[in-house]
Amino acid sequence: MQRVFSGIQPSGIPTLGNYLGAIRNWVKLQDSHECIFCVVDLHAITVWQEPAALRQQSLEMTAILLACGIDPNKHILFLQSAVRAHAQLAWIFNCVARLGWLNRMTQFKDKAGKDREAASSGLFVYPNLMAADIHAYHATRVPVGDDQRQHLELANDIAQKFNHDYGVDFFPNIEPLIMGPAARVMSLRDGTKKMSKSDPSDQSRINLNDDAETIALKIRRAKTDPLPVPSDVSELAERPEARNLVGIYAALTETDPASVLQAHGGTGFGSFKAALTELLVDQLSPIAAETRRLLEDEASLLQILRSGSERAAAIADPIVAEAERLVGFVGG
Ligand code: TYM
Repeated sequence: MQRVFSGIQPSGIPTLGNYLGAIRNWVKLQDSHECIFCVVDLHAITVWQEPAALRQQSLEMTAILLACGIDPNKHILFLQSAVRAHAQLAWIFNCVARLGWLNRMTQFKDKAGKDREAASSGLFVYPNLMAADIHAYHATRVPVGDDQRQHLELANDIAQKFNHDYGVDFFPNIEPLIMGPAARVMSLRDGTKKMSKSDPSDQSRINLNDDAETIALKIRRAKTDPLPVPSDVSELAERPEARNLVGIYAALTETDPASVLQAHGGTGFGSFKAALTELLVDQLSPIAAETRRLLEDEASLLQILRSGSERAAAIADPIVAEAERLVGFVGG
């Protein structure tokens, strides 16, 4: 059975983008793969996080993943900082990856913004830690949204260079799993910008804990153009906001944009948005309710995480110890 690894940053409440682009696919993969899912708090602190908020967000993220259907008995769910192997292998990868490779990462450029000098050095080497997350488990399949494609290519480059430099065939090639019509959910306010949990405008996204009224309001206010819903997918090419809403609808109904347009082409966006709101409320409300219930019992969440990190470490520690031996560390 192939091993799946994926992660999510506890840097806020997950959005519909995280859900449709990643989490929902994680839940499905549990039927056919051995899965390891990680709340990546080491990655989160590459930008400033208030300590109390980080703690709360890590627990909330854990509760939301469970509420979405991650099964911590059959698979592994844990916090990245609780398994030392991630940081240990990341250091080795810091010494394998070339500055030139990291300089090409578009996400660093986006996140660092204009003031690159003020970005943390952790933000720059973020993709090396991501590579370590995956390779510490010899995972071969990584379900992510489209924005992570470049980072996964880098993870493969790092593995290849490690194998080449040390003359081994130790780290396997990984296959990104970028699935479905919502692999890149865009902002509700600007169809050219990714929906993100760290966007300053709450109106730009649906949060997985939004109530029905908030979801309805955000979808009603979502930017569209004055034209009706098109009848053919080719007409979506120049209409980013329409394309986004149709993609979300297709993902929620598990179809494709063409089928959505077949059913809704020619109608106004008012009625399309009403139908979309109903779908969202139906699918997200149970998640929000279950999250609230799980958060009432912090001790159980901590117990799930502890068990997860013990099982994760049992896989990662021997792999990282072997990588250290290959590098020439004496150990002990
Ligand atoms: P994060 O927390 O930013 O995102 C978590 C997952 O959600 C996906 N995603 C989206 N998918 C579709 N549309 C969107 N608007 C959208 N926004 C986010 C992301 O692609 C991601 O799959 N660097 C990773 C976390 C990570 C990781 C890893 C992933 C750390 N180590 C190892 C895989 C393997 C990230 O972006 O998290």
